Amino acid sequence: MKGIILAGGTGSRLYPLTLVASKQLQPVYDKPMVYYPLTTLIEGGIREFCLISTPHDLPRFQQLLGDGSRLGVSIDYREQTKPSGIAQAFLIAESFIAQDPVTLILGDNIFYGGDAFQRAFNEFHAGASIFAYHVQNPERYGVVEFDEHGWALSIQEKPLEPKSNFAVPGLYLYDREVVAVAKALKPSGRGELEITDLNMEYLKRGQLKVFRLNRGFTWLDAGTSTSLHDASAYVQTIEKRQGIKIGCPEEAAFRRGFISLDQLAAIASRMPNCEYRAYLNEITAEAKEGGQDND
Ligand code: DAU
Repeated sequence: MKGIILAGGTGSRLYPLTLVASKQLQPVYDKPMVYYPLTTLIEGGIREFCLISTPHDLPRFQQLLGDGSRLGVSIDYREQTKPSGIAQAFLIAESFIAQDPVTLILGDNIFYGGDAFQRAFNEFHAGASIFAYHVQNPERYGVVEFDEHGWALSIQEKPLEPKSNFAVPGLYLYDREVVAVAKALKPSGRGELEITDLNMEYLKRGQLKVFRLNRGFTWLDAGTSTSLHDASAYVQTIEKRQGIKIGCPEEAAFRRGFISLDQLAAIASRMPNCEYRAYLNEITAEAKEGGQDND
């Protein structure tokens, strides 16, 4: 499974914050927003990444994440010259996807808790898999309608009258057919290649699985000033209470066996003195005590 992180868009909802740094580079409590989706995919075992952003912002992401080798992964960078829709990611990343299944994650979606994604990645064979999450304000999202047996009947993008409270989070799994399906999409009324239309096409073909995320799972999107603030507060609460970090790609890469204990220690040693470095040092010390290494 390969991974695409979509981190472009106009950033208009966060203006003027986005005048100098794109939305996905804004801080969510103690780290840049893009760390969270990157960590989610690393936790799921993904090692090959393509990050898509605007020509203006792409150099900043490259500066932040490099080629990924530090984390034992690879990161390709591709430009989206205009924000013509989420599904355009598959056209931009066509040569990256090649013959493989791919997961797309939106750069402003934050997930925490549970192993639903890891299981979905492991069990994925063909077609498409998406998720459904109970929210209070479904009209802001893609919304799934279920029949009485729990099968998905339809998905509607930002409906005025939602048919359920189940929103579709920004993490989607597809087989290699996704490029062909995306190529056949027509732009919507707002001129975008809609991810919901792509999912509807898989649904029509009888190839869409919709997994409901349970109550113990947290999904936050950080696309507006209020939700960005809420996400920061949430991350701070959990981190302070538990003494662990959410969205720490170095830790995820170590726990997944992508880098060794020595490599983790070396990453920390190159950081200035800060809380983040102290955290990595703590993990390193704990792992040494526990005799845990990936060599
Ligand atoms: O957050 C989940 C929701 O994401 C889904 O429930 C919806 O079905 C889906 O359409 C999407 O809705 P949003 O209103 O959040 O989409 P937005 O246009 O804000 O784009 C989401 C992210 O993708 C945002 O970080 C910017 C980026 N993006 C978006 C577009 C349209 C791009 O990088 N390029 C694009 O062309």
